[in-house]
Amino acid sequence: MRADFWIVWFFASAGVAKLLAIGENTIHGYGWRRAFLQRVRTVHNILLVSYPPAIFFGLGWFGPRLLFDGSWPAVCAWGWSGLAIGGIGFLALIASTIRHLTYRPPACEVVATSRIIDVAQQSTESLVGTGRAKWLARLPYNQQFTLEVHEKTYHLPDIPEAWDGLSIVHFSDVHFRGPVSRAYFEVVMHEVNQLGGDVVVFTGDLLDQKSCLSWIPDTFGRVSASMGCYFVLGNHDWYAEFDGPIRESLREQGWQDVSGRTISLARNGSTCTISGTERPWMGTAPDLSTKTPAELRVLLSHGPDQFVWAQKHSVDLMLAGHTHGGQIRLPILGPVYAPSIYSCRYASGVFLSNGTLMSVTRGVSGREPIRYNCRPEITKLILHKKFSSAQKIGD
Ligand SMILES: [Fe+2]
Repeated sequence: MRADFWIVWFFASAGVAKLLAIGENTIHGYGWRRAFLQRVRTVHNILLVSYPPAIFFGLGWFGPRLLFDGSWPAVCAWGWSGLAIGGIGFLALIASTIRHLTYRPPACEVVATSRIIDVAQQSTESLVGTGRAKWLARLPYNQQFTLEVHEKTYHLPDIPEAWDGLSIVHFSDVHFRGPVSRAYFEVVMHEVNQLGGDVVVFTGDLLDQKSCLSWIPDTFGRVSASMGCYFVLGNHDWYAEFDGPIRESLREQGWQDVSGRTISLARNGSTCTISGTERPWMGTAPDLSTKTPAELRVLLSHGPDQFVWAQKHSVDLMLAGHTHGGQIRLPILGPVYAPSIYSCRYASGVFLSNGTLMSVTRGVSGREPIRYNCRPEITKLILHKKFSSAQKIGD
């Protein structure tokens, strides 16, 4: 057996897997209907399992017989083409791995603390609910029921003085469906309230199962904040063709829908605007054409792909979900699947570009209740115009 063939086969197969994941992620970043995306996934799966045996038999066992006594010059043009595609993919895999390993939050993140809550210890009811996918929730070492609670402080010297100290609690992607019971979400919402933010925001993907609409009063209905609760919906709410009843139910519970619009909060002659976008799935982008120096501009977006749009419209803080952090993050390699035109680049984390700070949350749940090396999370973000190292020590 030839080690050189095995090495090339392994790296080329890994490279093609990476290219297929990039293609899958990118296509899911556009507003395609679910039926089309399912066909794309089928093609992806077929190619993923076909490439390794095709190279193994086409170049190793038959053809130039590289597993035995063959030589590389005997590989035909088709064979080299297949290996070249794998090589390109492997370079992409190296690049994304380096990006993952070298990721650091921006320097304006001056304080960051987190704690992990074992949700099972906070509830007397079963966290595993009903439905075919419930077996996933019971898998060993699945982190679905260990919630990470963050408190992060950002030093943003350009925000208006009036909003110094504003705190926003952000959560996303609850995916009410059944396999994760309502009891889990009741604990999550309790923790959201405990964070005591001035504002609470939710950035979409509320449900996959219409019957779970009845969960809203005991979950979202129990959340409150002194300056209000605001939301946009996500692509799964659109897939379910149920966004109208979801919006109505949330509004009945006191939540304000900011999809395609802007709500202004006033303080000491200054405004904090909270806008929302559900693009590319639903609605229109909010009108953010003019901005005054006395405005703090916050954008809720279901996905992170509106980051460039937000920068062009002078958004100070963009909050997004949708990508779930990849849900499964491999050792060293990081996330593999994240539905975004940027693939895994913004799967989760905090990013600063052209004056826009974007926080992408890993979300609270998912359509499939499975998470490895990628805990569900909720975050309290505190914005400070002025910040001294003394405050950091104080925290
Ligand atoms: Fe989601």
